[in-house]
Amino acid sequence: MKILVTGGAGFIGSNFVYYMINKYPDYKIVCLDALTYAGNLETLENAMKNDNFSFVKGDITDRALVFDLFEKEAFDIVVNFAAESHVDRSIDNPEIFLKTNILGTQVLMDASLKFGVKRYHQVSTDEVYGDLPLDKPELMFTEETPIHTSSPYSASKASADLLVQAYVRTFGLPATISRCSNNYGPYHFPEKLIPLMIANALNDKSLPVYGEGLNVRDWLYVEDHCEAIDLIIHNGRVGEVYNIGGHNEKTNIYIVKTILEILGKPESLITYVSDRKGHDMRYAIDPTKITGELGWTPKTMFDDGIRKTVDWYLNNRSWWENIISGEYQDYYNKMYGDR
Ligand code: NAD
Ligand code: DAU
Repeated sequence: MKILVTGGAGFIGSNFVYYMINKYPDYKIVCLDALTYAGNLETLENAMKNDNFSFVKGDITDRALVFDLFEKEAFDIVVNFAAESHVDRSIDNPEIFLKTNILGTQVLMDASLKFGVKRYHQVSTDEVYGDLPLDKPELMFTEETPIHTSSPYSASKASADLLVQAYVRTFGLPATISRCSNNYGPYHFPEKLIPLMIANALNDKSLPVYGEGLNVRDWLYVEDHCEAIDLIIHNGRVGEVYNIGGHNEKTNIYIVKTILEILGKPESLITYVSDRKGHDMRYAIDPTKITGELGWTPKTMFDDGIRKTVDWYLNNRSWWENIISGEYQDYYNKMYGDR
């Protein structure tokens, strides 16, 4: 079996590469990644030691490069993680989100059709459903919830999802889509809530909480997401959407205070800053379909997962310190400077 993992030098893609190498030592895995600011070859250092793994630097929107790669490698399965993934950056500059997330998906699907890929899997997000109110805790996103996006990021991911469904129906592409809630764990880029708060707390810097910190996210340990995708690409039904999430709803302020408590740092580090534009209030996934059809349930509960994650950042300081010492500083000043 030969699998193409796009975006495998990023957070979830790299965790998926390691998950697959460990679980299927006979599979050949090729990672295609453009190494944008979010991609990091250091993350794949251990994978590179494996003869069944190879890395190709390239952009998923580069049709010639993608077609050459598909012709040469004859992939059985394609899993598309490659994306611009940060909501705040999409508010600042939407264009690259449309290019990578929509047009990149189209190029990968065209190549999958031409070279007879047996399964194309699109890694999508619960953000395509928009948000839920705080005062109706019984409401959750199911696969039937209408698409209703808030940010340029979520609009680009929803557009890609619609395109995948069109390719299934019009061209018979054997594709599946998964829509997952917020992930956390190792190799998470420190622009996102959890790793940013861990890094700032360890550096005794202020912790910028948007608005009142009452927005709710449904957190899933990244390995559980990888397992769900593994089940979908092997046993999921073509043309189907699968929601992935584990009933782990937490407010942002709870997350931030938990991190401070684990690290033994004072709550006085918390600073409330102006809110994200169009900020989604609450996400919550109903995973009934994937549990019923594929037997998936999350294995790591939040209390364990957050401790494991904090430990990982403590034990891998050079990984994130290298990131935040570079161009990240410009990003940080622009995003948080006069907030
Ligand atoms: P990330 O930003 O950490 O990684 C994205 C990776 O894609 C990077 O390695 C980057 O170099 C690569 N990339 C970007 N543009 C590319 C291009 N044009 N060509 C090739 N490679 C390119 O993202 P992540 O958090 O790991 O998210 C991975 C996927 O999962 C995304 O599609 C995202 O929408 C989806 N998702 C993320 C979460 C989450 O909580 N992080 C939850 C649900 C779904
Ligand atoms: O739900 C899945 C989505 O989760 C993925 O599709 C996205 O790729 C991923 O980035 C994530 O989006 P969010 O916007 O939910 O994640 P983020 O870590 O940026 O923010 C989580 C919450 O924390 C959100 O309510 C905004 C808030 N926040 C974030 C940052 C970076 C803060 O309060 N302060 C911050 O500095």
